[in-house]
Amino acid sequence: MKDNTKLVAAGRPHKRPLHPVNPPVERASTYLFPTYDDYLDGAKNIAYGRLGGPTHRALEETVTALEGGYETRLAPSGLQACTMGVLAFVGAGDHVLMTDSAYDPTRKFCQNFLGRFEVETTYYDPRATGDELAALMRPNTRVVFAESPGSLTFEVQDLPALAAAAHAGGARLVVDNTWSAGYYLKPIALGADVSIQAATKYLVGHADCLLGTITAADEKTANLIYRAALQLGSNVSADDAYLALRGMRTLAARLERHQQTGLELAKFLRKRGEVETVLHPALKSCPGHAIWKRDFTGATGLFGVVLKPVETPALKAFFNAFKHFGMGFSWGGYESLCLHVHPAKNRSAAAWTAPGPVLRFHAGLEDIEDLKVDLERAFHAMAAHA
Ligand SMILES: Cc1ncc(COP(=O)(O)O)c(C=O)c1O
Repeated sequence: MKDNTKLVAAGRPHKRPLHPVNPPVERASTYLFPTYDDYLDGAKNIAYGRLGGPTHRALEETVTALEGGYETRLAPSGLQACTMGVLAFVGAGDHVLMTDSAYDPTRKFCQNFLGRFEVETTYYDPRATGDELAALMRPNTRVVFAESPGSLTFEVQDLPALAAAAHAGGARLVVDNTWSAGYYLKPIALGADVSIQAATKYLVGHADCLLGTITAADEKTANLIYRAALQLGSNVSADDAYLALRGMRTLAARLERHQQTGLELAKFLRKRGEVETVLHPALKSCPGHAIWKRDFTGATGLFGVVLKPVETPALKAFFNAFKHFGMGFSWGGYESLCLHVHPAKNRSAAAWTAPGPVLRFHAGLEDIEDLKVDLERAFHAMAAHA
């Protein structure tokens, strides 16, 4: 099946002759075993609410089909999917290699939380080649964590090279695949052991629920993730699983539009005098474009812009003039966003030295002409306050 068909057909087991199109929400903590023998068998799959029920399974199956993995587990947030994707494989005395471009809370988890348990983290340049990564590997390195492209600075990572270096040293490659929504990039096919998504973004797609997915490439990796999730008591509500699954049914159609609007906005912004550079992997001028072209089949709606240096009152006027671009954390919903971000604060391996402020844009589903007018209004306000 092609991806567009998987997104419609996966996770819809029809057990009744007259069935609803969508698998219904099944809310449960307690499941009742029909007989004592069933209880002894433990009904491995669905036995207690925390292990998930049919609504969770339907979502997990759909994500597994899209990511091309062996099995998916859900997490109550994208961040927990990232932290579980590391925690499942490390113990005291181990070492993690984390991309310097990682989502800041993922980075802080390694630094602050894992550090307390004697798991050491080293940050690597997101543009590292396989050889450069291999040089940083230690005998106790268990996880190489990648996020491609970085969600603030948009460096595209060479996943096949990173996978080869990680595997040669006995480590797993874990990839935060949120940007591609699992649709435009298949980390597992490129050699990754785990592909993670903050489903909060494109899978849910409507800015109304938090959720994470952790897809393992093989059974052994899946079992380690399963055990970590179980022992930590991780749980997702069936209502939230339902929202993500419903979001996935329209993912392909939404992404096409996010891609189109994102590219048009990026090209529009590139021509503005106030803009130093545009960080969009699908633009030839973006570092990492060649890898993006080789490994990705498209782009979503998240990209960055580095402005020329600008005084704070002018920047404030720019943001306050927007009527359509909202100022909010997160992305991947139907609405357009623009946020002033500060990547320099969270770098240790590859300093971020851009001269001006970095703006992160999310291209939503509004009409492109309205979005352009909104940007022109904001730049006009900026000029008036310069
Ligand atoms: C790349 C990336 N990974 C993970 C997360 C965490 O997701 P959540 O907000 O669902 O915890 C985010 C959130 O912004 C993100 O941008």
